Amino acid sequence: MADIVAEGETDGTASLGSDVSRGDASRTPQSTSSDSAESVLELREVTSGYGDLEAIRGVCLTIRPGEVTALFGANGAGKTTTLLAAVNMLPRKSGEVLLDGRPCRSSLHAMSRRGVMFVPCAPSIIKKLSVRDNLKLGRGGVDDAVAYFPELEALLRRPAGLLSGGEQQMLALSRALATRPRALLVDELSLGLAPLIVDRLLATLSAASRARGVAVLIVEQQARRALGVADRWHLLANGSIVESGVAGDHAALEAAYLASMTGSVTTK
Ligand SMILES: Nc1ncnc2c1ncn2[C@@H]1O[C@H](COP(=O)(O)OP(=O)(O)OP(=O)(O)O)[C@@H](O)[C@H]1O
Ligand SMILES: [Mg+2]
Repeated sequence: MADIVAEGETDGTASLGSDVSRGDASRTPQSTSSDSAESVLELREVTSGYGDLEAIRGVCLTIRPGEVTALFGANGAGKTTTLLAAVNMLPRKSGEVLLDGRPCRSSLHAMSRRGVMFVPCAPSIIKKLSVRDNLKLGRGGVDDAVAYFPELEALLRRPAGLLSGGEQQMLALSRALATRPRALLVDELSLGLAPLIVDRLLATLSAASRARGVAVLIVEQQARRALGVADRWHLLANGSIVESGVAGDHAALEAAYLASMTGSVTTK
């Protein structure tokens, strides 16, 4: 699976630091209702899966410009499947994906030309190529990418396969962000990474969302960390969204998470 690159679409000039104001009330959404008028990407009642297996059922989810949406759930809940369905990498049994409010059946490659980027769980970097050459492949510009993670500057000549896990994630994220996407979907940012680097990656995504209006959807196991930057969240259990909330709804998420683990939830 590859994270597909797209041409830049905006000339956003806002500078991006990693100084994220956690829980910034000024960007806290007031409701979780769906509104395709302001959505970049929307899943509407999507049922999808693998062969006969319906791994997700009736999933509704909207990502909006300038917002970070987090998708939580236990292993096997359907998080990755939701992302794959959102970028048309899996066939749908029913429901629709809407891009800019219109039904979209295009390939991910075609979607990427309209500003939708997907960074999968194991990001595809070409290990034999240098960091610089990997960034060039993204067509977003090396300087733009390094601006997101200045740590990469010193690593530009190193074969990407020799980077640490965290550095590889920085490479994948910066390459995607440098294309100036309108929507960015990221699966399991934190897999195997130390808490400090996870915070750094999340802060960069949050800053990109705020400064450049990127609609971000993250799948994250480390719910507390992700909640620190998320404007909205959804909890998946057994392929369905069982609870949703906005920034600050920590207690609601914890209660719903616990209920989903013990099986005492009803599908929303
Ligand atoms: N390629 C596949 N073929 C068949 N079944 C699959 C495939 N990929 C996932 N599944 C099944 O679909 C369901 C949802 O899987 P999915 O990968 O979406 O879960 P997840 O929430 O991302 O889990 P994790 O946190 O472990 O990554 C699981 O029951 C899983 O076993
Ligand atoms: Mg997964």
